Amino acid sequence: MLENDIAQIVFSEEEIKAAVDRVGAEITRDYAGKKPLLVGILKGSFVFMADLARRIELYCDVDFMAVSSYGNGTSTTGAVRITKDLNQDIFERDVIIVEDILDSGVTLSYLKQYLEGRRPSSLKICTLLDKPARRRSNVYADYVGLTCPDGFIVGYGLDFAEKYRNLPYIGILRPELYS
Ligand code: IMP
Ligand code: MG
Repeated sequence: MLENDIAQIVFSEEEIKAAVDRVGAEITRDYAGKKPLLVGILKGSFVFMADLARRIELYCDVDFMAVSSYGNGTSTTGAVRITKDLNQDIFERDVIIVEDILDSGVTLSYLKQYLEGRRPSSLKICTLLDKPARRRSNVYADYVGLTCPDGFIVGYGLDFAEKYRNLPYIGILRPELYS
């Protein structure tokens, strides 16, 4: 079973929920009177996006982009490719990028620059997880759910070779499964 592949739980369902509630409240407060556009980065952000959007008590739109940077390995290749772009114009919109994890920062620094070019009114980054130990790009998140230790994690949207995204919590796989 899925659960048997997990060596250790890093963040429980309760911890994740508390973090999502807090970030949702921060965004609700900071964007009062505005109609932000939430831009989820597929696929990793789909679970976080679904929960976060329901904690934002404002009119807001949702859109998605898909990027690929990793292949099926556990560390970044350094190259970012956009495989699905936005369906709407972001000129003069208040845009919030919603990401699962800020790791090396390669993906988000690329995306931020890319979207800035379309001249939104504002552009912020909201990430469920921040893994500062591995940062390679000079990028920071405006909203962070949880800060995590170094080490490859799965669950709550995060995958290893496309598996484990549907785990309701975040954990570390048994080491023999990574090979
Ligand atoms: P970055 O460009 O290195 O910051 O990585 C961004 C993407 O890599 C994330 O959106 C994830 O899809 C993936 N990623 C980074 N670290 C992990 C991890 O620990 N587990 C699963 N996916 C990860
Ligand atoms: Mg991934």
